[in-house]
Amino acid sequence: MSTNIAQNLEKLFSLEDKVIVLTGAAGGIGSALAGGFASAGASMALCDVNVPGLNHLSDQIQTDGGQARSYPLDLTDVNSIKECVDAVMADYGRIDVLVNCAGINVREGFLDVEESTYDRIMNINLKGLYFISQETARHMIKVKKGNILNIASHNSVGMLGGCSVYGATKSAVAALTRSMAVEWAKHGIRANALAPGHILTSLTTVTWEHPQRSKYLRERIAMERPGTPEELVGIAIMLVSDSSSYITGSMMHVDGGCLAGGAPWPFDTRYEPCDD
Ligand SMILES: NC(=O)c1ccc[n+]([C@@H]2O[C@H](COP(=O)([O-])OP(=O)(O)OC[C@H]3O[C@@H](n4cnc5c(N)ncnc54)[C@H](O)[C@@H]3O)[C@@H](O)[C@H]2O)c1
Repeated sequence: MSTNIAQNLEKLFSLEDKVIVLTGAAGGIGSALAGGFASAGASMALCDVNVPGLNHLSDQIQTDGGQARSYPLDLTDVNSIKECVDAVMADYGRIDVLVNCAGINVREGFLDVEESTYDRIMNINLKGLYFISQETARHMIKVKKGNILNIASHNSVGMLGGCSVYGATKSAVAALTRSMAVEWAKHGIRANALAPGHILTSLTTVTWEHPQRSKYLRERIAMERPGTPEELVGIAIMLVSDSSSYITGSMMHVDGGCLAGGAPWPFDTRYEPCDD
């Protein structure tokens, strides 16, 4: 690649001088995003309830030459949210980007879900995301500049059985993304959502190791395989960088062709035999 092209690309997607707050940083998708953002030059504020996981990740990023600090965060507690955002502001003086990646799922039938489970999923995936966005946007509005990326899900639009509460939170995350975009555009804040399809992480190992469920999923993904957390990094860098400066209120699906219709049914072609 000529030096000119490389320099232009680097300028377009660079995250240098950006302070990024990332929730759920210690998780499978969070840690891949953290590494990708840091390698594009961002100063990372890594936030999670899993403090040993955070410290391990920030050591790793620093060893690789990136910048990262760890911040304990419990999204079920609004005081913890405020303390976390205050601590990042005290250290870095600003927050350019908030990436809401923390999330949990408990797979239970609609009639089996108890109130405590309902509250826990809602409190982390939705209420926590709402109030950390509110707390962060207060600082962004003061400087008339900011960018929020919410990690939604295929379940923001398409449902699986046994995920009613999770699906409700992720549908609401898609709606909140549009509300943030509409309400805060005049304050220079963009908000978008990234909706991963079926990605192999500790959240989904249980599904991919289940013979019937993994078969069901493969049939519904055109590429017939799970995605990796690293396959979300490119589009996430685009959405948090200035290269996407006119994109707000959108939700991008990264799903290996799940929404497109999944693996095709058997059909005759002149270029390959029909299997059945
Ligand atoms: N893996 C997938 O296939 C998939 C698909 C679509 C969407 N997603 C979404 O991507 C995000 C990351 O998922 P993942 O697969 O990396 O899961 P993961 O379980 O590996 O990571 C989730 C992270 O959230 C953190 N967390 C949990 N409770 C918290 C709390 N109270 N406060 C702060 N942090 C807390 C966990 O400690 C963990 O590090 C989630 O929002 C999930 O819903 C995942």
